[in-house]
Amino acid sequence: MKKETKYRCKVCGYETIMKLGKCPNCGSWNSFEEVESEEPLKKKNPVVIETQKEERIKTGFAGFDELLGGGIVRGSIILLSGEPGIGKSTLLLQIALNIAKEKGKVLYISGEESPLQISSRLTRITESSPKNLYFLYETDIESVINAIRELKPALTIVDSIQTMREEGLSSLSGSPTQVRNATDKLMHVAKTYGIPIIIVGHVTKVGDIAGPKILEHLVDTVLYLEGEKYQMYRILRSKKNRFGSTQELVLFSMEEEGLKEVKNPSQYFLTEREREIPGSVILPTIESGMKPLLVEVQALVVSSYLPQPRRVSVGIDYTKLSILIAIMEKYLKLPLYKYDIYVNVTGGVRIVEPASDLPVIVAIYSSLKDIPTSNFVAFGEVGLGGEIRNVSLMKKRYKEALKLGYKNFILPSSMQKEVENGDGRRNIFVKTVYNLIGKLK
Ligand code: TYD
Ligand code: MG
Repeated sequence: MKKETKYRCKVCGYETIMKLGKCPNCGSWNSFEEVESEEPLKKKNPVVIETQKEERIKTGFAGFDELLGGGIVRGSIILLSGEPGIGKSTLLLQIALNIAKEKGKVLYISGEESPLQISSRLTRITESSPKNLYFLYETDIESVINAIRELKPALTIVDSIQTMREEGLSSLSGSPTQVRNATDKLMHVAKTYGIPIIIVGHVTKVGDIAGPKILEHLVDTVLYLEGEKYQMYRILRSKKNRFGSTQELVLFSMEEEGLKEVKNPSQYFLTEREREIPGSVILPTIESGMKPLLVEVQALVVSSYLPQPRRVSVGIDYTKLSILIAIMEKYLKLPLYKYDIYVNVTGGVRIVEPASDLPVIVAIYSSLKDIPTSNFVAFGEVGLGGEIRNVSLMKKRYKEALKLGYKNFILPSSMQKEVENGDGRRNIFVKTVYNLIGKLK
């Protein structure tokens, strides 16, 4: 076969026979590189790309659409990652149903579940079986591509990319070669026909050899669905989005009949209380998103009768907790070695960002001294010298907490210039952990 030269955009995979300065698909400059094509491109004619009003497909989930920047972009590739069993197939089946009802044909390709399994899930989330929803139980990528070409659906779902394989390739399903090859082929058909494709990628806890990570740079949008399997809530985050998110986090609750969007996510994890209690403080956390989520950091400090006091931590890194306890012993001169310390973030939320340092210290201090702090909001990183450091997006966190009616704050001292008192508000500024003493009463 005669080899022909074509050019492929390094950013989005868009292919053309001419080297273009600007990619008509994703708008990147000087992104084209020469690739040799096996198939001659002789049937293809260069086309004039007209500017068109970007049409976005609504998914039926308002928050999901916002996360995508206003809905699904035609021809885009979205990677939905998450641990097995977290609810990826459920969410996508719900989206498939909504789009099949409102917009047109949806092709749901499953490489792991038989039509029977999918139909049992379908029965849980809907009563009527939709006309426009097509299922294909297939793992051969060539057949999958052909099906997409033939049906030209408004949306295609591939569940999961790890099950797709090409006969000719010697490596096993799920290997990096197979996963990359299948994604490449799907991208090509998506861009050629303007069909959006959502690809499911399982994150596996061990190894993660051909996990979704290897695809992140190829696709347009990367979404992660997270949560604890035995808790109701699921968080969908956008890790990357070429089409601009207006929001970076959607909170769902897993119900009997599928996932439901939570309307006021920032207060979902808060408890309403009649009176204040010690050992609890509010943290407006911003993990990867732009919108703060208010969670409660709790601590329980009790006398220890063990030779080695117990430290238990749920939702906060254990090493981090040990460091914070050491800082408190040193700079607050507290005999914490005499106490068992339990720390918990409510709702099973896991906090990785350093903004939780100060709340953890406040919660421990408050439990130890029996000072109620449950209507206090705190955030800040704590250094090994006991100094309180700034964290990202502090004003945003502050404002979100204000919006939800909180009036008591414990803040890094640098915020002093930025926030006002009055209005019944109480701002405690701390430069080091030592400043906590006497200020909390
Ligand atoms: P699933 O979508 O199969 O997860 P994934 O595709 O990420 O592997 O979700 C599986 C879990 O969701 C399963 O434990 C059952 C639960 N579930 C509900 O609680 N409600 C529902 O309506 C459905 C369909 C599933
Ligand atoms: Mg699944």
